[in-house]
Amino acid sequence: MKKSMKPGTMLNPLPVVLVSCADGTEDNLITIAWTGIINSNPPITYVSVRKSRKSHKMIENSGEFVINLVTEDMVRETDFCGVKSGRDVNKFQVCGLEREKADIVKAPMLAKSPLNLECVVKEVKEFPSHDMFIAEIVAVHGEEGLFDERGRFCLDRANLISYSHGEYFGLKRHPLGSFGYSIMKPKTRKRRNREKMKRR
Ligand SMILES: Cc1cc2nc3c(=O)[nH]c(=O)nc-3n(C[C@H](O)[C@H](O)[C@H](O)COP(=O)(O)O)c2cc1C
Repeated sequence: MKKSMKPGTMLNPLPVVLVSCADGTEDNLITIAWTGIINSNPPITYVSVRKSRKSHKMIENSGEFVINLVTEDMVRETDFCGVKSGRDVNKFQVCGLEREKADIVKAPMLAKSPLNLECVVKEVKEFPSHDMFIAEIVAVHGEEGLFDERGRFCLDRANLISYSHGEYFGLKRHPLGSFGYSIMKPKTRKRRNREKMKRR
């Protein structure tokens, strides 16, 4: 039996990321949970941002941003950048976060993040509460230490976090299966597990 609830934004769990943006004179960080992928080739993502956020204006004016994935040791900064506005504090400075220069966009990348996605806005869809910035991912940068000896990027080693119903969660400790495992041949599964164990 289920109990009916008021229609709402109950989709969980969600990603949580730090988005960096800049407007020519200053830069800023905003925590975003309303993000996702909407096309594979070209790679298209979105971030939904309330008009009232300082970052909204910066992304609107520059047409650019960087999605920085966040890890277990970035939870405090992630929360802080989601409760404080760049109008009142310099979040880079208060959190002691270092910038890295992006290749294409002017917004800085977060050095501490294991993966940075440079994004160029293609379209803005206005909704009553949030504007959806639809953007092409034009460059991707992965932490060197996360590449294995065969050159594969091992994001499973990065200790990424997610956000669910008001709480931050680590993903690392309870892997329940990987993409396609439900139809994988036993031989392939064993080989994959062996490879994974080697990487840990
Ligand atoms: C976990 C979490 C997720 C959030 N997700 C969003 C989001 O998807 N869109 C949004 O507009 N604000 C979101 N916020 C709120 C903004 O991050 C927050 O209002 C921030 O202080 C805005 O900063 P700014 O004014 O410097 O841009 C989120 C906050 C938290 C803590």
